[in-house]
Order: sequence, then C-alpha cells, then structure tokens
Amino acid sequence: MYLPILFVISLLFSYSHGSVLDFCVADFSLPDGPAGYSCKKPAKVTVNDFVYSGLGIAGNTSSLIKAAVTSAFVDQFPGLNGLGLSMARLDLAVDGVVPIHTHRGASEIIFVVEGTICAGFISSSANTVYFKTLHKGDVMIFPQGLLHFQFNIGNIPALAIVSLNSPNPGVDFTDVALFANNLPSAVVEKVTFLDVAQVKKLKAVFGGTG
Ligand SMILES: *[C@@H]1O[C@H](CO)[C@@H](O)[C@H](O)[C@H]1NC(C)=O
Repeated sequence: MYLPILFVISLLFSYSHGSVLDFCVADFSLPDGPAGYSCKKPAKVTVNDFVYSGLGIAGNTSSLIKAAVTSAFVDQFPGLNGLGLSMARLDLAVDGVVPIHTHRGASEIIFVVEGTICAGFISSSANTVYFKTLHKGDVMIFPQGLLHFQFNIGNIPALAIVSLNSPNPGVDFTDVALFANNLPSAVVEKVTFLDVAQVKKLKAVFGGTG
C-alpha cells in the first residue's frame, strides 16, 4: 500500500529536479520578451557567458552630463538572464551628474568606491525627498521605480558601482523623455508648466526638435 505512494513521491522528485534549470544564458539569436531571453543550449554555454570585463574600464565623461554609466545588463552580459540581477559602473567627473531617472524594473543599490556623491530619491505618493552626501564606502538604496539622481559634489572624480535586482532594469531619464524628441514645444510647455523659452532652451541642450 505504501509502495505506490513512494513511487509517486520519487516521481515528483525526479520531475522537480528535471524542471529546475541551473541557468538560462541568453540566446541573442531569439527575441527578448517579458520573461527575458530564451536559453542558449547548455552545450554552447561557456565560462565566458558568466564573466564580464567591461566594468574595469572607466567610462568617457566628456559629455553634457560629465558622467558615464557603463552597464553590465543582460544585453552585455548574457549569463545574467533569468537571475534577477545586474551591475553598472558610474564614473562622475567633477561636476558630473546622472540626471533624474527611474528604473521601472528594479531597485538599485550604490556603493561609492571613490569620491563624494550626492544622491537621492523621491517617494511616489507623498513626494518626500531622501537625499544625502555619500562618501567612499557608503551604500544607498533607490527603491524600484522611484525618481532618483546622483551627482559629484566633491572636487575629484567619483566612481561608484551599482547593482540592480533585474537583468534588464530599464532606464527612463525625465529630461531626455521631455526634451530629446519631437514632442512640440507648445505641448511640452502645456504639460510641464515651463515657459516656451525654457522648453526651447532644454530642447537645444538635449537634442530635441519642434
Ligand atoms: C570621449 O568622448 C568625446 C565626445 O564624444 C570624444 O571627443 C573623445 O574622443 C572621447 N574620448 C575617448 C578617450 O574615447
């Protein structure tokens, strides 16, 4: 009488073992979807799918924002697919700023390796601001989906490493969304309460038209 039960239990165990993958390295030959990429055939996976060397190189900060974000997201680092995490490197020249932005898909934690960074986020309903000057060795959390920013408040270049709990966290820069496209200036003026001269100035800065 116990034998059939034991048989069923052993069957369940063998099925559950069989259905849990060790990993699902991204197969870039197939499209990305809400659940991530399809899995590369295990026989084609190599150790290099789990190693990424791009974060050892300082980003080029010669730009308007005087900052560079170098990502180790799934598109650069296929081994992250399905694992719910990613990293990035933040180089901030003196006066460098990562403009206010959100990651729809992830919370973020920052570790300051070098320099002094002012960082903060804004809560969604009360619009409460949480910001602070971070020093070398400090870490700070930016909860998922909330507007946040970082800028160099020191007089030497700053370096930080961030980690995000999604292989593909997405990023939406507020200024880029508003001023880097062809949404007519009159509409931008209407929906932001800025005056049209300010809108045109920001469009010139961020490369928008209209
Ligand atoms: C950094 O970017 C600037 C502006 O795009 C470019 O002129 C410069 O050559 C780049 N420097 C390096 C080292 O790639």
